[in-house]
Amino acid sequence: MKWTTAKIRATKGQQKLACLTAYDYATATLIDSAEVPLVLVGDSLAMTMLGYATTLPVTMDQMLHHTTAVVRGVTDALVIADMPFLSYQVSIEQGLTNAGRFLKEAGADAVKIEGGAFRAPLIETLKQNGIPVMGHIGLTPQSVKEFGGYKVQGREQEREAELLADAAALEAAGCFSIVLECIPETLGHQITDAVGIPTIGIGAGRHCDGQVLVTHDMLGLHSNVAPTFVKRYAELGDAMKQAFAAYKQDVEAGTFPSEAHTYYIA
Ligand code: KIV
Repeated sequence: MKWTTAKIRATKGQQKLACLTAYDYATATLIDSAEVPLVLVGDSLAMTMLGYATTLPVTMDQMLHHTTAVVRGVTDALVIADMPFLSYQVSIEQGLTNAGRFLKEAGADAVKIEGGAFRAPLIETLKQNGIPVMGHIGLTPQSVKEFGGYKVQGREQEREAELLADAAALEAAGCFSIVLECIPETLGHQITDAVGIPTIGIGAGRHCDGQVLVTHDMLGLHSNVAPTFVKRYAELGDAMKQAFAAYKQDVEAGTFPSEAHTYYIA
């Protein structure tokens, strides 16, 4: 059954939603076959796939390239493409053109954009033009330089009130869902109760309507120290390193290929 934004909205209060990032065809097929309803082609691919220190350098062309591969691997999940830094900030026209490319050229189902109430005019335009939008507030990584690091947001009363108002504004503008990143659990709970659309938390506590993790983090695919909110479900990085070392050893010892991996004349 293909997930649509209407179906995602209808899960509010009925079902918790799992969301994972995917950046390539093979991973997308595996996530989709595990019946995860939301697949995000996150701009985190700047770090996980391209080795940058932040999400800022990734381009529209790189995001489109990866989104196209993910879309080919997904049958049922809703595929959301993350709009990269400076692909929607300059003007509403620029945001509409670039968001449209994700649906038209890459086959995504929706886009995600970072920012609060001040993004409402862009979100309204996208929705009016048939482009579903997932919002993203709290720690918005494209603003890491402004925040001065990857810091928990909404600990102070003023910022807490701002984030509550942002969530309400994003819902009113037409978002079908909102990512809440790195905020105190109490605020995640308050926002989740206050809005009628599903909240998807990442470091936003236990009361959100759903959760998202970066797949590389939850699979242990890199050796970086994971943030507090990450739960590791596998240690695939270690497993891969062991496999690579075993292969190297076999090649050097002449034990691979063996008879079983060899062709013969009939
Ligand atoms: O880019 C990304 O992976 C994200 C998630 C962390 C929500 O935006």
